[in-house]
Amino acid sequence: MDAKTEELRAAHDVLAEFYADRLAGALDRMPAERAVLGLFCDVILAAAVGADVADIGCGTGRLGPYLAARGLCPRGIDLSAEMIRVARRDYPGFGFEVADVRELPFGDASLAGVVCWYSLMFLAPSDRPIAFSELARVVKPGGYLVTAFKAGDSQVRRAGRSTNFGVEFDIYWLSPDEMERRVTGAGFATVFWGGRPAEEHEGSPQGYLLAQRSLIPSPQHGTRSSV
Ligand SMILES: C[S@@+](CC[C@H](N)C(=O)[O-])C[C@H]1O[C@@H](n2cnc3c(N)ncnc32)[C@H](O)[C@@H]1O
Repeated sequence: MDAKTEELRAAHDVLAEFYADRLAGALDRMPAERAVLGLFCDVILAAAVGADVADIGCGTGRLGPYLAARGLCPRGIDLSAEMIRVARRDYPGFGFEVADVRELPFGDASLAGVVCWYSLMFLAPSDRPIAFSELARVVKPGGYLVTAFKAGDSQVRRAGRSTNFGVEFDIYWLSPDEMERRVTGAGFATVFWGGRPAEEHEGSPQGYLLAQRSLIPSPQHGTRSSV
């Protein structure tokens, strides 16, 4: 594991219990987030591509119950073993494992969709092509990707300081243009994009993107050998 990934993983190990505490019930207070996730669930079920979805960078696993209540069968992966331990403890009905978005433990075209909820904003520019390619690889043609992200100028920032846990790591508030370009460049077509201003406790506006995997995979996308 490279030094930046190790720094990120170790920081999220430290933050796992804090996140579990801080984010418990957060979705109940966030109608815009529920609406975007709900749209993701609805379009997947309407597309008849199955219901198996993966929450990539699932953190404490808090999205599982909502996705399941809307008819999907979610499982989660995360870089941080502590996040996965907490997710297994707090949401024992779902499958969680340690893995990296840059090397997903799922077969080609095996999922109806992927959720990347505030989890793609740690990728350095050089890591983005393989990460988005992996996301496209695992989603069936006609399936969906949904992402929430801190929307900004794509410049690197240092995060973690405000938590007083003594951790720091790189974070990129991707521009909505770049996010859409990365997603469509990997073989998805935009279905919905949106955003909202920062709320009191948030440092940035939030962006949302829902995209559908192309029905006919192009030769450059969708197989492990292409990444
Ligand atoms: C801000 S938290 C969001 C967690 C969760 N999606 C949520 O909304 O509560 C970001 C999560 O992404 C995970 N993460 C960061 N980089 C990752 C990578 N390359 N592969 C898998 N997970 C990653 C972190 O460990 C962390 O748990």
